[in-house]
Amino acid sequence: MKKILVIGSTNTDFVLEVEEMPRVGETIMSKFFHRLPGGKGANQAYACGMLGGHVSFLSAIGGDGLGSAVMENMRRADVAVSHIRTMEADSTGIAVICVDGAGNNSIVVSPGANLRCDCDYLKEHREIIDACDILLVQLEVPVDGIFYAITYAHKRGKLVILNPAPCPDGIPDEVLQCVDYITPNETELQKLTGCRMDFPDGIQEGAQSLLRRGAGHVVVTLGGKGAMLCSGSGTARFPAWEVPVEDTTAAGDTFNAALAVGLAEGRRIDEVIDFANAASGIAVSRKGAQTSVPSRAEVEKFMSSRGDI
Ligand code: RIB
Repeated sequence: MKKILVIGSTNTDFVLEVEEMPRVGETIMSKFFHRLPGGKGANQAYACGMLGGHVSFLSAIGGDGLGSAVMENMRRADVAVSHIRTMEADSTGIAVICVDGAGNNSIVVSPGANLRCDCDYLKEHREIIDACDILLVQLEVPVDGIFYAITYAHKRGKLVILNPAPCPDGIPDEVLQCVDYITPNETELQKLTGCRMDFPDGIQEGAQSLLRRGAGHVVVTLGGKGAMLCSGSGTARFPAWEVPVEDTTAAGDTFNAALAVGLAEGRRIDEVIDFANAASGIAVSRKGAQTSVPSRAEVEKFMSSRGDI
């Protein structure tokens, strides 16, 4: 099995369950409060481990104890975390997440120590990139460091997956040309390409513009509509699995992790996207970020119960 390296953020999520999102100037009461492990990077690394991947993680945490609690969770999923950077004087990143009655979320992140998951730290750990086969990254840490890691990994023949979340103002073509799979959601695709948001034509045009700029494959995650794959071989659509929506937090992270694990196992891309849709479908039916991520056995049971495998 190929080795996956995830580089990205670590947060503690402060989750507030609300009936409806607060409006500007409004004070509302939350129904429940939870403090949970999160961060897009940590969620993706944890999910790779839970789904059966061989995974290492590079990230930065503060000296406040919150980050080490997230790392404890990582170890439970067999994620290798021995090269995490601990900045004693910094706070671990936090995210304040409101989840409404329909399972939609809005998230504000205070990056804290995530800002120290920077280019210098990644250059110091080039040997960890050398040791992986697949690099999985997002953009909740300084983007120049991530762009450096992408180009370095590509030059060394690694397969690169970029989840462009949160979405930056732009990604240079030289970086896109080093990306084998880019996985925007509809909003991120629109921000990156200026495409129309209508499905499927506008989405397909946006994906094709990323292909023209050099990305190898574009996998657009479409929430309840599933996913769309665009590559040099054409376009394919993959329906979502029907599930009751509890909380969409980390559905995208679970999808990206499952994509990395499926590719690490050398499976066909159509099988991999079905697997990723199933894993993220289970995640939206549960609360929280890492707390919603299913195990490999749960995904396989779910798929076979619905007649896929
Ligand atoms: O993708 C979900 C994650 O986004 C949350 O866990 C939160 O920490 C933010 O980073």
